[in-house]
Amino acid sequence: MPPSNNDFGLIGLAVMGQNLVLNVASRGFGVSVYNRTPEVTAAFVARHPGQRLFGAATLPEFVASLARPRKVMLMVKAGSAVDAVIEQLLPLLEPGDIVIDGGNSLYTDTERRDAWLTGLGLRFIGAGVSGGEEGARKGPAIMPGGPASTWDVMRPVFEAIAAKVDGTPCVVHIGPGGAGHYVKMIHNGIEYGDMQLICEAYALFQAAGFSADEMAAVFEQWNAGELQSYLIQITAKALAQKDTETGRPLVDLILDKAGQKGTGQWTLLNAAENAVVISTINAAVEARVLSSQKAQRVAASTQLHGPVADLAPHKAALVAQVHDALYASKVVSYAQGLDLMRTMSEKKQWALDLGAIARIWRGGCIIRARFLNRITEAYAQDPQLANLMLAPFFRDLLNRTQLHWRAVVALAVQNGIAVPAFSASLAYYDSFRSARLPANLLQAQRDFFGAHTYERIDKPAGQWFHTDWPEVIE
Ligand code: 6PG
Repeated sequence: MPPSNNDFGLIGLAVMGQNLVLNVASRGFGVSVYNRTPEVTAAFVARHPGQRLFGAATLPEFVASLARPRKVMLMVKAGSAVDAVIEQLLPLLEPGDIVIDGGNSLYTDTERRDAWLTGLGLRFIGAGVSGGEEGARKGPAIMPGGPASTWDVMRPVFEAIAAKVDGTPCVVHIGPGGAGHYVKMIHNGIEYGDMQLICEAYALFQAAGFSADEMAAVFEQWNAGELQSYLIQITAKALAQKDTETGRPLVDLILDKAGQKGTGQWTLLNAAENAVVISTINAAVEARVLSSQKAQRVAASTQLHGPVADLAPHKAALVAQVHDALYASKVVSYAQGLDLMRTMSEKKQWALDLGAIARIWRGGCIIRARFLNRITEAYAQDPQLANLMLAPFFRDLLNRTQLHWRAVVALAVQNGIAVPAFSASLAYYDSFRSARLPANLLQAQRDFFGAHTYERIDKPAGQWFHTDWPEVIE
């Protein structure tokens, strides 16, 4: 006899979906599952006997197996597949039922779906879920957006399945509408930045002649300190991994063409729309793009010359220097990501709690890291913090690390090693701390060719001037 009062339903049994189901079931909830290929559902349920799992062969059977209000989570590919599944579900659901989209959906799609389903009397949650396969199974970070009243209903399930740090679940109600998926998008942008910074450190170590095992040891050591994070940890493990066929470090055999599914690019577009600088994430996305142009790079490598990179004489000093360059750049990257969230929060009236967001990112998600505690503390001290770099802890850190940071960027530039994220972060830092930038000349240029006018340093703000510039004779 099929159940009629299961607590939770999940549609989409790809890797994330399967692991999330096992996570929910392991917390004592009765879970119904549905996949468009019934064999996948049956095989999944058969592989996990002894769990309160019900595999539905059809959607009507799936919906009928759930207690009201029904809680249906979609773990399907972001994009049109989400709309298609919702369309199929609609005739089967009743007012008050809750649909949760746990994929990496674009937040504007989530806003559209929220309006659509709310108009039909249903309740919708767009929830960012981070942590990959392992996180989904053991506890991801969850970023749910939607009405607070719907969050209240879902809270027991979300808190039960989320990762825990110091006993605190890595989930919080992010805000209305698309806020949850928006924050997940920023998480991913920051993830891109973190990954690229680590890769730049790797490039420098390679140029200094470190072996993969030596590098693994460095990252291992960093993971025991202030830089502790999941991405540093997996980097150490990846570098230590040997290829079973050749015995060589596996990383040496992996083609240097980075993939991406688009969340980083969405972050850039959003930043551009809102005139917020996220140059570290920008550099990271563009580094992936350039890496993917392998054939062009190989061809250019014989024609466009640069210095022969040799950092061997710097090997001993490099570990401490790169450590600081990485740490400082990471702070800048987070400062930029937080600035973008703050800007969007004001624009959309989401009331994002940036300290709470940093807190839930401490566990479960890909960017989980010890230093996120410091961000939470910074916002606790000053909820109106204009820029993370100005919080006392981070200000002191940047002041302390900048000599090493500059040395690393200079060394890289002199040796022809591209460090776009390190250098973009440093340029942001230097621009942000400059009381005067060369934009006065830029304003002169604008006024010269377009009579765009300018303000003067010796006159009140808001008073605009135009000069009759000399005629250009060509
Ligand atoms: C996460 C990740 C995940 C992301 C993939 C691939 O938080 O679990 O951010 O959501 O989609 O890691 O992203 P790219 O293919 O764009 O690198």
